[in-house]
Amino acid sequence: VWQSEEFDKHEQVCFFSDEATNLRAIVAIHSTTRGPAAGGTRFKSYASDDMALDDALRLSRAMSYKSALAGLPVGGGKAVIIGDPRELKSRELLLAFGRFIDRIGNVFATGEDVGFSVADVETMFEVTPYVGGMSKGAGDPSIHTATGVLHGLRAVAEFRLGRKSFEGVKVAVQGLGSVGWRVARQLHEAGAELIVADIDPEKVTKAQNDFHALTMETDEIHAAQADIFCPCALGGVITMTTAPQIRAHAVAGAANNQLASPEAGAMLAQRNILFAPDYVINAGGVISGVEAMQNMPGRKKIDMAPLEDLLESIYGRLLEIFVRSEKENRTPEAIAQMIAQELIREQPLEEYA
Ligand code: NAI
Repeated sequence: VWQSEEFDKHEQVCFFSDEATNLRAIVAIHSTTRGPAAGGTRFKSYASDDMALDDALRLSRAMSYKSALAGLPVGGGKAVIIGDPRELKSRELLLAFGRFIDRIGNVFATGEDVGFSVADVETMFEVTPYVGGMSKGAGDPSIHTATGVLHGLRAVAEFRLGRKSFEGVKVAVQGLGSVGWRVARQLHEAGAELIVADIDPEKVTKAQNDFHALTMETDEIHAAQADIFCPCALGGVITMTTAPQIRAHAVAGAANNQLASPEAGAMLAQRNILFAPDYVINAGGVISGVEAMQNMPGRKKIDMAPLEDLLESIYGRLLEIFVRSEKENRTPEAIAQMIAQELIREQPLEEYA
């Protein structure tokens, strides 16, 4: 898998197994050019080991790009534990995994992800310092993700709608969870008009009361008559079926992997609907979690801009992507990827040792 054309070259890929606990894990380190690699641990069943490796390679590269675009002095990596966490997860397995992570040393730190909780990370911390995102860190990442999304929405409103404020801007928010609720509240406070949808009727009623929001069905809100469609629930919402139905001038929200396919992204571009690449606009959580990387044992302390400045830089990064996308006539996704590769190739930060 990992020699396939699709992938950049990864710096290091490790396979671990521990018979006593049935642990089988893969750690992929895509790049440490900009700093030690960071990336969560995904614990899930895969149809084959090849698919697990494929996930580790793909997700670690995505982490390199996400961190570089967020201006962070860290690289990208990812860990995958193969198997159903409900059957396999035990304290002994987590400690065995922690010891393997410790063996890799100060080029990689990991944290929570699908199937892997903050409590699991805290168990690993008993045997390795190379973990992050624990409860005593920067706090609930969704707060910072929401702030970052607001900065991104400012760039979208300015570039696509020619608006310097949200006063009277219509935004359709899909999903009123930890991130979506905060985004909706801040937009309301800034004078935006909201249309919302959530599978939880209580949240919808509360948004009607608190934000005077209009409501739509969850599977129709993408087609709302709005200026911006803001997906904050599930991934894969932009498909070849939904893309032609979107009436908004832009799609920009927190949900991961919004484009179900590159074709769906191309369809948005064709219809002159501006797309904010999700891993750029939703980087606030990763930005806030990276504090933990600043003091990795055996490394020079990493100098980083204050959290607020890093979150605000999402605005500038998106504008840069939009301007280049227009000039070079390529999708914002393609431009974001190019900028990330340039940042990794051409702007390695200081030497860490
Ligand atoms: P959450 O679980 O707190 O909220 C999701 C909300 O969407 C819930 O209110 C749920 O009822 C609703 N929902 C579920 N299915 C729906 C549907 N079909 N239509 C409308 N609403 C639906 O999750 P959270 O943390 O707010 O994350 C939202 C999205 O943002 C996810 O895609 C997540 O991967 C992504 N994200 C979150 C980050 C964070 O810091 N929490 C960071 C980066 C991305």
